[in-house]
Amino acid sequence: MSLFQPTDPATHNPHGQHPVDVVIMAAGKGTRMKSRLPKVLQRLAHVPLVQHVLATAQQLQARSAVVITGHGADQVEAALAAIGGTLALKFVRQEPQLGTGHAVQQAVPVLGDDGVVVVLSGDVPLTLADTLQALIALCDGQHLALLTIDLPDPTGYGRVVRTGDAVTTIVEHKDANARQRTITEIYSGILAVPAALLKRWLARLDNQNAQGEYYLTDIVKFAVQDGVRVLAQKTEDAVQVAGINSPVQLAELERAYQRRQALALMEAGVRLADPARLDIRGHLRCGMDVEIDVNCIFEGAVTLGDNVTIGAHCVLADCTIEAGAVIHPFTHIDGGAQGVRVGEGALIGPFARLRPGAQLGAGVHIGNFVEVKNSTLAAGAKANHLAYLGDATVGERVNFGAGSITANYDGANKLRTTIEADVHVGSNCVLVAPVTLGAGATVGGGSTITKDVPSGALGVARGKQTHLANWARPAKKPT
Ligand code: UD1
Ligand code: CA
Repeated sequence: MSLFQPTDPATHNPHGQHPVDVVIMAAGKGTRMKSRLPKVLQRLAHVPLVQHVLATAQQLQARSAVVITGHGADQVEAALAAIGGTLALKFVRQEPQLGTGHAVQQAVPVLGDDGVVVVLSGDVPLTLADTLQALIALCDGQHLALLTIDLPDPTGYGRVVRTGDAVTTIVEHKDANARQRTITEIYSGILAVPAALLKRWLARLDNQNAQGEYYLTDIVKFAVQDGVRVLAQKTEDAVQVAGINSPVQLAELERAYQRRQALALMEAGVRLADPARLDIRGHLRCGMDVEIDVNCIFEGAVTLGDNVTIGAHCVLADCTIEAGAVIHPFTHIDGGAQGVRVGEGALIGPFARLRPGAQLGAGVHIGNFVEVKNSTLAAGAKANHLAYLGDATVGERVNFGAGSITANYDGANKLRTTIEADVHVGSNCVLVAPVTLGAGATVGGGSTITKDVPSGALGVARGKQTHLANWARPAKKPT
């Protein structure tokens, strides 16, 4: 489920003598998104659409990916340049946008002659690498291979016209006659073609058609004229060829993507209370006998060990939850760059908040309304109610009372608190850092601790309780 599978350089050219170069069309405006963000940068599972396409190219072990930009080109190029990867990434600009054929023409100067070119669209994010691999195999370095699909409503798409079994042309909807419009097999927008043939055919395109555009799909008729075989691979899976033009379609594909991930998890043995109420925006790895209740969101890289249970309505980002730990409902874990680790058998929540650098040992308990940031809690430590531990080192079996906090910030610097093993901190205490509580020490409830407490001692720092006998409460004055 990783967006980027690592590329093994030893197997870098899996396509025999034909390296693969991917061309991604991403110049279109996406008017129907009604957004300032270029369409291909709209996010699916928190990742820009075009980045999904690049991840697929990466899985294909393509030699290069050429992204054709136009609308929002600066933004699209900056976003993609920032993500890196092992793939050679090239950008070409298409200005103005005169059609898909014109788009691919812009890539010609940066495409080798020796490769197979796979044409993809930056707004079609969920094509599987296996499907493209099969299309490349069908192309076999010599044929034109088209990915097609039967659609119940083919309106708007290019129709695949056949004589007998053989594909003879693709006719765009606006150019199609009434009989051609009854054809339900449409061109998906995805093809594989030898680069040398593609270049030859692109040079022959014209815009004498209903839309006055240079149609990439006209290469089909040139292939037929040149005696090159045109082969169609039909997919049954509409999700793989679905493009995004509107927020509704974006949301629909998001659900399709999430369903795909949920199914993969369940096939691996994970028990989901409801696969329709799970969102993975990154990479979730699970051990055996993991259970996830409804409405949980996983972001970044999350690892759940064997027998981990995640309660309803949790958000977990960039963290590792070790075997047997229980994350109770409404817990928010955000590991950020430092990560969060929850040790074996720990109990977290409900309503707990773990922030970057929280490192919790085995059997730690973090209860409701407890926040932990950049702190290490050793095995068996507990903070069960209404507490804050920031920049603290907490020893084994420490009990941190309700309402107690580390005052770790003096307005300028972050300072550390050290709480050694077996310390008991009472309720409603303020530990003013830097401060150390020695092993086995006790802090009386309501204390503000500014000095180190020696091992084994009781530290109390609060006003002494006094009594005024027979105290008469004020009475209401007569009016
Ligand atoms: C195209 C195909 C059609 C197919 C359909 C599948 C052509 C002529 N037609 O339709 O047969 O059924 O895809 O969705 O190819 N783009 C550019 N520059 C341009 C025009 C488009 O980069 O000048 C990009 C768009 O941003 C988009 C992709 O190419 O990512 C497809 O463009 P779109 O207008 O959606 O496809 P159609 O031409 O309508
Ligand atoms: Ca168009």
